[in-house]
Order: sequence, then C-alpha cells, then structure tokens
Amino acid sequence: MPNEEKILQLIAKAEQEHTLKKEELTCLLASSQAEEPLAAAADHVRQEFVGDGVHLRGLIEFSNICRQDCMYCGLRRDNQRLERYRLGADEIVGLAEKAKGNGYHTVVLQSGEDMYFTAERLAGIIRRIKALDLAVTLSVGERSFDEYRLWREAGADRYLLRIETTDREVYEKFDPGMSYDNRVRCLRDLRTLGYEVGTGTLVGLPGQTPVSIAEDILFYQKLDADMVGIGPLIPNPDTPLGSAPKGDFHLTRRMVSLLRLLLPEANIPATTAMETMVPHGRELILASGANVVMPNVTEGDSRRKYALYPGKICVADTPEQCRRCMGGRIKAMGRFIAEDKGFRKHRRDLSI
Ligand code: SAM
Ligand code: SF4
Ligand code: FES
Repeated sequence: MPNEEKILQLIAKAEQEHTLKKEELTCLLASSQAEEPLAAAADHVRQEFVGDGVHLRGLIEFSNICRQDCMYCGLRRDNQRLERYRLGADEIVGLAEKAKGNGYHTVVLQSGEDMYFTAERLAGIIRRIKALDLAVTLSVGERSFDEYRLWREAGADRYLLRIETTDREVYEKFDPGMSYDNRVRCLRDLRTLGYEVGTGTLVGLPGQTPVSIAEDILFYQKLDADMVGIGPLIPNPDTPLGSAPKGDFHLTRRMVSLLRLLLPEANIPATTAMETMVPHGRELILASGANVVMPNVTEGDSRRKYALYPGKICVADTPEQCRRCMGGRIKAMGRFIAEDKGFRKHRRDLSI
C-alpha cells in the first residue's frame, strides 16, 4: 500500500506534467485514498484547460435494433424480452429540430448496429440535421471506411465508439463475434477521416483489472482521443452478465479524474450510467474532471425501450424536463452551459 505522501507526489506530477507510467496509474486507480485529491487536481486542470462551461449534447436514441450480441447490453440481438423500435428519418430530424429549439448545439445519433440504416440512408439524415446548423455526433457502431467516409462527407463531425476495454481477451469474450483488431481499425479510420474521435471504457467487465484500466488510459493518450466517455457496468438481468457484480463507481470516478490529468483538453462526459448508480452522480463527476453531459432528447416510449440496463434515469421525463433539470443543476454548481459547439480547443485539421 503506497503511503499518502507518495500518492500526493504522483498526483502533483500528473497535474503538472500530464503524464504517468503504467505502474503509477495502476497505483492511483487501486487506491481509495487517492480519490478525493485526484478529483481536486482534475477539477483544477479542467478549469485551466477547458474552463467552467459544460457542453450539452442532445442524445437521440433512434433504434434499439442490433446485429451484435454483446453480453452486457440489453439491445443485444438475442434478447427476446426487449420491445424493438426504430424511428423514421422525419422523426429523427424532428427531434434534432426540437433539440435546437431547446438550446442544444450538438446532437448525438445513437443506436444499435441496425443495418436498416444503410450508409446512404443515414447520410441523408445527417445532411438534413447539418442544415439546421447543429454539430452531429454519430454512435452507431462498427462500419467500413467507405461508410464512415460517406457520413463524414455528409457533415458528421464526431464519432463515439468505446473500445470498452483494451484487454483483447476480455473484449472478445464479452463481445462475441467481434474482433478487437476491427474495433481499433474503426477508431483509426475515424481518425484518418478527420472526425473528432470519442472512445471509452466500460468499467467492471469480469476480468478487467486496475492494470488493464491503466492500459486503457495510455491507449486514449496514444490515440489522442478527443473525447473519452466511461461508465460502470450495470448488470442487465436479460443478458448473460445479469448476475455479474456491478462496476465500481469509485474506480470509475478515479479513472475520470486521471483521464482529465492525462488528457487535459479532452471532452469528458459525466455519463448517464454514473447517475443511474448514484443519485447526483453526474454532478459529482462534473466536479471530478468532466465537462460534458448528454441529456436524452428522445421522446415517449422509445426512452424506456432503449434499455441497455435496468434503472436508467429519466425514462419518464420529457426532453424539456431534462434540459431544465440539467441547466439548473449545472448553474447550482457555479458552472454554466457553454454556448458554442464544443469542439476541441486546439483542433486538428479536420479536412478530408
Ligand atoms: N451500438 C453502439 C456501440 O456499441 O458502440 C452504440 C450504442 S451502445 C448501447 C453504447 C454503449 O453502451 C456501449 O459502448 C457500452 O459501453 C454501453 N453499455 C451497454 N450495456 C451496458 C450496461 N449493461 N451497463 C453500462 N453500459 C452499457
Ligand atoms: Fe449492440 Fe452496441 Fe449493445 Fe453491443 S453495445 S449489443 S453493439 S447496441
Ligand atoms: Fe432528466 Fe434530470 S436529467 S430529469
């Protein structure tokens, strides 16, 4: 067990140099004593590098149909207990329009890997949303370089694809039929095409260790990820991981803080799963290094049906309620809602 002085020294080093070795990261991830000083340092670095503005991204969950069978996710194709839905193009664009009316500058189009949405079909939707002067983030899973290119040409700005874990064996065990190499290929293609690339970890997959989580952080640093979203596993009884232990909220919080220290300019969300696990979890994470929140702007029954895990927050609320709720909570923290599209400050050349 490292002593308190050693922990504080490591945190001070990370705060000043934005670098730590794998063993140092592992030591901080594994130490509950490190949690509060890590959060304080990360909050400081967050303020210095990305300021007090919180970027809101309006999440549109447009289809819960998925060809994949990830063992933790309620949308997996073998889950027969889920009522499936898919929104039409006009409904999706309509939600984006309302999001714009509610003051959003970005919408995130997220779904299972639903092949009804051919590259061309989704490109048409992207073009219509871009005409509203919104930034568009996609989170629709693994596709080919050419499909990603078409969407980028249609105007998509960002892409979220979590690596989930950089432990290849753990990844392939819980994402059966998927290959770790293809996941990395997707992230590289997205980078090559000039997307802002978001990725992240699902904390709590059985077999994951503080060492593999430290490796995840180093992977994000090497990839120079623009956004990193992490959240704890919430076991879903309708999946093979239904009786696995839930992911550790505190380990996840320490990981958020370490990410801010090592990737000071990244966009880091306070994820919905954190709040599903702990009331006001998103505020705690916003005060521990995060600077983004992704309120749900999907309407009606689709919110309930997009059931990745049980207990998901806000399923009975409207987009307007969530917008007001988050706005008030962010203000109460002494922070404000950023009024720009929230691209990374020192933007790489995003041309293709
Ligand atoms: N299908 C796309 C993909 O997998 O990249 C996007 C949608 S997928 C539902 C978004 C994220 O949900 C996944 O990257 C995964 O980390 C998270 N997720 C799925 N099941 C979860 C669970 N039981 N607990 C916490 N997060 C979960
Ligand atoms: Fe499908 Fe994504 Fe869920 Fe995997 S995590 S089953 S790809 S929706
Ligand atoms: Fe949905 Fe609070 S964010 S009601």
